[in-house]
Parts: sequence; structure tokens; C-alpha cells
Amino acid sequence: MTDDKSVDNNPQVAEGKVAAVATEAGDKNSRAEGLSRIVEFKNVTKRFGDGPDAFTAVKDINFAVEDLPGRGEFVAVLGPSGCGKSTVLRLIAGLAPHHPATSGEVLVGGKPIPGPGADRGMVFQDYTSFDHRSVLDNVAFGLECRGVDKAARYELARQWIGKVGLSVDKDADKYPHQLSGGMRQRVAIARTLILRPRIILMDEPFGALDPSTRLRMQDLLIELWRELEATVFFVTHSIEEAVYLGDRVYILSASPGTILEELGVPYPDFPAKEMQRDPHFLDYVFKIRDTIESLESSDRAGDD
Ligand SMILES: Nc1ncnc2c1ncn2[C@@H]1O[C@H](COP(=O)(O)OP(=O)(O)OP(=O)(O)O)[C@@H](O)[C@H]1O
Ligand SMILES: [Mg+2]
Repeated sequence: MTDDKSVDNNPQVAEGKVAAVATEAGDKNSRAEGLSRIVEFKNVTKRFGDGPDAFTAVKDINFAVEDLPGRGEFVAVLGPSGCGKSTVLRLIAGLAPHHPATSGEVLVGGKPIPGPGADRGMVFQDYTSFDHRSVLDNVAFGLECRGVDKAARYELARQWIGKVGLSVDKDADKYPHQLSGGMRQRVAIARTLILRPRIILMDEPFGALDPSTRLRMQDLLIELWRELEATVFFVTHSIEEAVYLGDRVYILSASPGTILEELGVPYPDFPAKEMQRDPHFLDYVFKIRDTIESLESSDRAGDD
């Protein structure tokens, strides 16, 4: 995978590097031979606590996601509440206490991860912003941490405020308490994506939004993902959202979570509102709903 460290402190260089990858990419939908694996789980188990009180959150998780050049893959993760979806994301992010795994290997770019890194960006389940920072300073936060000077980071932050559909003139100087939930979520997305991570981890980012805002945010995310060409892991409880956004969908069992099924799903060719009423699209949704129901009624879930 790309060595992001060298471009880490310089967003202009980072932008140029991503653009170069895009022009070399060729056919965006083709899977080249011999691709490297950007994220791989090998028999990953996470247990919290010790002895008789130990709790197994996820068990024997195995999967590999390839580093599709000039495109990135969109992986949607479905599963019942408490099955370990956030745990899987936080293991990839390298965030304690979920990281490190109790056993097995979490590999990013073929290597074990020591902790969080600039190559991975996370949008959390409860969208987080710094209350005492304006929208502009929230979006510019990561660049500030990387030592980017004020003029450069504000310029890029203004671009990203626009990209996520907020108004630079009206919203940039507001504070989080002055924003709606949907607007706060846009800030959280801009704050993460401005850093152009190779791997974007999104934990139920649209769960609290009203249905039409949610559809608009799905389209926005597809647009930004196509621009960034990153690998995305996206946790959701919505099967429609998983089928619309995902290239593939992982279905996790009830606790302790393990991947029960992996399905390829169609590419989002139309706006969410149109595609999600298409009969072909709905076939996939019903198929996944049936799969989840049959998995839930089997004895497999809950075995330890
Ligand atoms: N720090 C922790 N200490 C102990 N147990 C934990 C910890 N974090 C998570 N767990 C447990 O691990 C299991 C998986 O949690 P996780 O947050 O990954 O579930 P989830 O699939 O994201 O659920 P939801 O859909 O409700 O967000 C849960 O039973 C939870 O109680
Ligand atoms: Mg969760």
C-alpha cells in the first residue's frame, strides 16, 4: 500500500499523489490479478476481561479486502446490535480497548498495526465534534495536528465544508450546538475525509438522520468515495443502505460476532432515491433479509 507518511504533513502533495493514482488507474471496475490486501483479519477473536467474567465480543473473524487500484472497495457491515460491528471497525482503526485483538491477526497493508495511523480515518457512531471549535476549526483539526499552516488548512477546510454540502459563508463560523444532527454529521465526515485516509471506517454514520436526509447523505458519500478512491468499511442496520452503498456486504452473527455470509451487491449507478425503488435492487434487499432471518433462526448464533 501507499506510504502515506511522506505526504502526511502536506495536503497539496497528498492531493497530487491521489490524482496521479487516479489517472493511472485504468478501468475502475476491473479486478486486476495479484492485488495486495489492504485489510485482512486472520482468525481474529476479541475477548474483554479475564477468567470466568471474560466476554467474547467477536470470534474467529476471517476476511480479506483487496486494495483495488484507483477505486477502493466499499464494504458494508450488517449485523444485530451488540454483535461486534464497532469492535471490528475499532480493531482496524487500532483503537483501545478493542485493539489489540486477543488472538489472531489484524493486518493493514499486509502488516500488523501498532495503533491508530494516518492511513485510517474513522467517523464514529455518535458523531463527535469539538464543542468549543467552530465548524471551520473542527474540519481543519487533523491538518492542524499535522502541522499544516493556518492559511493552507483553512483553505482546504473551506473546500471540504462545501464538498459535504454545508455553506462556507453561513456555517463555517458556527459551533456544533448551533447545528442540526445532519449538519454535525457532515462536519464529522469532512473532518475525517479532509485527511484523505486510504481506509475510511464509518460506524452507523447516518443512523440518526431522517429518511430523505439519509438518502442525500448516501449519494454524497458515494460521490466523495469515488473522488478519494479509498477502501470503506461502513456499518449500518439498514439493509437498503448496505445494498446501495456496498460493493459487498458482510453479515455478522449475533454475539459473539463472526462473519456468516459475504455477498456481492450491485454498483450504485443511480441516485439513492431512484435505485432503492428498482425491482432488481429490491431483490437483493429481500435476499439479504431472508439470509439474515434464516441465520438468526439457525443454532449457529451465540455459540461460544
Ligand atoms: N470496552 C468494552 N468492554 C467490555 N465489553 C465491551 C466493550 N466494548 C464492547 N463490548 C461488548 O462487546 C460486544 C460487541 O460490542 P460492539 O460495540 O462491537 O457491538 P455493535 O455490533 O457495534 O453494536 P451496536 O449495533 O449496538 O452498535 C457487546 O456485547 C459489548 O457489550
Ligand atoms: Mg456499534
